[in-house]
Amino acid sequence: MTLIRSHSHIGTVRQLELLLEVYEAKGINQAAKNLHLTQPTVSMQLKKMADAVGMPLYDQIGKKLVFTEAGLATVESAREILDSFARLDMKLSNLRGLNAGTLRLSVVTTSKYFIPHLLGPFRQKFPDVDIQLKVGNRQQTIERLETGIDDFCVFSHSPDHLDICAIDFMTNPLIAICSSQHDLAKKKQIKLEELENYPFIIREKGSGTRYAIEQFMTRHNVNLNIKMTIESNEAIKHSVAEDLGIAILSRHTLAFDKTEGIKELNVSHMPVSTNWQLVYPSTKRLSVIAEEFLNYLNQREGLDILQNKIEGA
Ligand code: PGA
Repeated sequence: MTLIRSHSHIGTVRQLELLLEVYEAKGINQAAKNLHLTQPTVSMQLKKMADAVGMPLYDQIGKKLVFTEAGLATVESAREILDSFARLDMKLSNLRGLNAGTLRLSVVTTSKYFIPHLLGPFRQKFPDVDIQLKVGNRQQTIERLETGIDDFCVFSHSPDHLDICAIDFMTNPLIAICSSQHDLAKKKQIKLEELENYPFIIREKGSGTRYAIEQFMTRHNVNLNIKMTIESNEAIKHSVAEDLGIAILSRHTLAFDKTEGIKELNVSHMPVSTNWQLVYPSTKRLSVIAEEFLNYLNQREGLDILQNKIEGA
């Protein structure tokens, strides 16, 4: 933030930034590290802020930092103020004809295969825009969404306990795969319940892919024989290729990143059909560049290029 450095009775813009970082990093040490500052500097600034507020902003309970009600209210306002400054920065940049700013995205691991292909043409349109891309599993991305720190999150199963806007932008078919050596590899048609007879490899708890598989199998009354849990799509593909088990993954994990020795299975009721969604808190006011990104998706130009790449891959 380069715009305003004024003092208010609550604190400076810098102090608000520090407070937010401490809140999001869940601790002073980590926040100081992220900001390349010393821990005493951060503590001192927060102390000044608490003095100005006239109430403690947080309590230290054991190793945990627990924000007080006053602290949480200050965090919430800090976020609104900093968001508003970011929008003003962006508007002024636009007026100067720079179109600069930062697009902040937090995406689930499975979408990392195609998101860069979607960002490429967008970046060509807005070459001065910086892009921050955070990748995590579904649960980690929900936590980011709750903080409202990003412009958008990408999920295929957005959480239903939050007040959000979710825009479907592309299908996400989940397919069953096995090694080309596997018994099922030669079968032309496979019944869904036949999958119960083979060791199954699944993503970790917190993964959206796992969530979708569990919901789908419960709906069809199928009990998978889970033998391995792996936190990475790549490692699952390699394990399947080594015939350690069968798996279900998004087709997009295979489209851009082929692994030798894997076969897609033709299973009844499959692929599991889900949709990629662009998600943001409904109370969030979008920055200018975030709105440009939304327009870009709505115009579908980049999406069509991406879809062609996926089909041609
Ligand atoms: P995951 O999410 O990468 O956490 O499995 C994918 C999804 O939401 O479909």
